[in-house]
Amino acid sequence: VTSDQISKITNSIFSKSLQARRLLARNDDKIARLPLVEIVTLVDMLKPLFSAAELAAAAARVKRSRSDKKPVELNRQQGYALWSETYDAEVDKNPLILIEEPVVLDLLGNVAGKKILDAACGTGRYALRLAQAGAHVCGIDATAEMLVYAKAKRDATGLNIDFHEGDLAQLPFTDASFDAVVCALVLSHAPDLSPIFNEFSRVLRPGGRLIITDFHPYCLQIGWRAVFVREDTAFFIENCNHLTQDYLRAMSKAGFAIQDLREEIIDDRLLAIWPPEEIERYRGIPAVLIIAGERI
Ligand SMILES: C[S@@+](CC[C@H](N)C(=O)[O-])C[C@H]1O[C@@H](n2cnc3c(N)ncnc32)[C@H](O)[C@@H]1O
Repeated sequence: VTSDQISKITNSIFSKSLQARRLLARNDDKIARLPLVEIVTLVDMLKPLFSAAELAAAAARVKRSRSDKKPVELNRQQGYALWSETYDAEVDKNPLILIEEPVVLDLLGNVAGKKILDAACGTGRYALRLAQAGAHVCGIDATAEMLVYAKAKRDATGLNIDFHEGDLAQLPFTDASFDAVVCALVLSHAPDLSPIFNEFSRVLRPGGRLIITDFHPYCLQIGWRAVFVREDTAFFIENCNHLTQDYLRAMSKAGFAIQDLREEIIDDRLLAIWPPEEIERYRGIPAVLIIAGERI
């Protein structure tokens, strides 16, 4: 098999995996058998490239990986209620967060004295950072279990943060009450973006700043998901496949001028948590979408 053939075969496997994944996701199991059986055939063409030892080592790696765990999909509420127990322990190992957080803090600049909403604050990752930096912070999240951890950390640090339980589409705040809203790693769980952006627009003062971050749509398309593992089960949280244009349109329609758009890729920033060969596997893939806008 020549390297040119290998490249053609892997392209085909990639494309057919994507087809199979999308068909299975919409329960078209019967049609999904077509790309699946083609994948099996293509994989067989690659097999002669590898020694028995290499194949055995790969089989052992797969056995340890998520793909060998029982997949269970949870809705947003169930998912984050369960994930809350380990979310903070995994933050330092979360590649999206490692890439995203410094960019967001840089985009926010000096927050001292500013009124900031951490929208879908979870366990308070940004709320605590921003309050420590001198901002007046409110946090809101729909999952009570996530808020338990946010409040415990607030109480342990003595910071003054107002946490609320509620939905982003119905914010319990008065008009123009914030200088900035940060909404991190949330919106791909929201089927309808418009009501949420409308609420962000309403609670921000004119000139106020909105920063949203999310899984890059490309990653979701190729099958990356919000996932956490417990024993032999991989729990996935349901996602919607918004495109970048969906975020931009909903944001503009809600009254924001787009100021910045970042497509943060996998690169050496992940050396802190991934071995180099793992980074090479993914280098250049856009992992996080970050959009900053100003309330007109
Ligand atoms: C991946 S966590 C992110 C938490 C935090 N922003 C962070 O970056 O660490 C997603 C959070 O969004 C919350 N969430 C999702 N949809 C929401 C909605 N419509 N309203 C309020 N919270 C929501 C979930 O409860 C969960 O805590």
